[in-house]
Amino acid sequence: MNIGIDLTSFYTPQYFLDLKVLAGVRGVDPDKFYVGIGQEKMGIPPPDEDIVTMAASAAKPILDQVGRDDIELFLLATESGIDQSKAAALFAHSLLKLPTRCRALELKEACYGATAGLQMAVAWVARNPSKKALVIGTDIARYDLRSPGEPTQGAGAVALLVAANPRVLAIDPESGYHAEDVMDFWRPNYRDEALVDGKYSMRVYISTMMDAWRQYAKLSGRRFEDFAAFCYHLPFTKMAEKAHVRLAKEAGVAEPTDEQIGQQIGTSLLYNRITGNTYTASLYEGLNSLLDHAGDLANRRLALFSYGSGCMAEFFSGVVQPGYRDHLFTAKHRNLLDNRTELTYQQYEDIFQLGFPTDGGEHTFAQYRTGPFRLSGVNQHKRIYEALK
Ligand code: CAA
Repeated sequence: MNIGIDLTSFYTPQYFLDLKVLAGVRGVDPDKFYVGIGQEKMGIPPPDEDIVTMAASAAKPILDQVGRDDIELFLLATESGIDQSKAAALFAHSLLKLPTRCRALELKEACYGATAGLQMAVAWVARNPSKKALVIGTDIARYDLRSPGEPTQGAGAVALLVAANPRVLAIDPESGYHAEDVMDFWRPNYRDEALVDGKYSMRVYISTMMDAWRQYAKLSGRRFEDFAAFCYHLPFTKMAEKAHVRLAKEAGVAEPTDEQIGQQIGTSLLYNRITGNTYTASLYEGLNSLLDHAGDLANRRLALFSYGSGCMAEFFSGVVQPGYRDHLFTAKHRNLLDNRTELTYQQYEDIFQLGFPTDGGEHTFAQYRTGPFRLSGVNQHKRIYEALK
């Protein structure tokens, strides 16, 4: 029985900052961002958007189509948690009107969380083939102002409906994975901004990918040439290009030309380039970008590499299903990305500096442009959400 991604949908906030603007203010050559790290824009959530509203906005189009009744597992992965105890999944469960007979919880291992969720959901569906699982990765990537990580900020969420006989991507059983205790990127509970040892994090990304790939290749007997395309975790798009060249070398194939790199990973980078890092969602944002833009991939195998700092790495694969194009949300994604509002630098910094109220009082948030859900306020330390349509 095939199990995998039956439907997938992506959401990003309606505001962005162009990195040319950031480069101008920081006194940096814009090509450092556009070319050097391969990023053009970063998505900025307004004050009434958070990981819950983004998660629910990503999942709603899927649930509107398939209904809610069969969903008995809901895993929400994030590294931008809003509560130390209550799972963000429960807020989203309510906004999405999921059934009460449902296991709903939050997963955390940096950017790897959604992959953990996907693999757990696949195993759960194997035992409950008539049921479906909803997995969402949702995050706001946030670094200190004026830090090297600043231009790699971003925000977004991806929803994956996991089911038997999936219509989009059947996940292969073979997988290579690697766990290791490293301090490449972390965010202590008392900080809103991540801390990162940038160059070291890039080295660990690559070295753990090598181990995960070797395991995967040994278990599956597959070679680099067996994949139609590759999707990588995308902290910034240049990282995927570097990883792809290293993987080719490790796999013993000739160094890919720029044209081959474009063919093998180019379309997976298009969304991330204009949203920035979406942490747990980024690999699956790349998958959506690939499926939305590449030529026909039916019956072709895709490689996926997931990396979460700290760290966990996993190399796995899936086969694109015949007729998958009829089940994508391409037009919705395009519409969302084409209609975002550009912020000035000052608006970006004002939003960045706006702290979340912690006094326990009643606060109502001004209404900005969001998806179908918004965070309307907070009262007695309880977040209040609103469904708009
Ligand atoms: N024109 C073209 N290219 C230029 C340029 C110009 N004017 N100026 C600089 N560049 C190039 C540099 O040569 C460099 O390219 P190479 O890496 O190929 O040498 C690139 O632009 C970046 O320049 P720097 O190395 O000087 O950049 P930096 O040190 O200021 O910051 C960074 C780079 C370390 C990645 C930083 O953005 C960062 O810390 N990011 C956050 C951490 C991160 O994303 N890590 C990735 C792995 S960890 C992970 O994947 C988990 C996660 O999601 C965070």
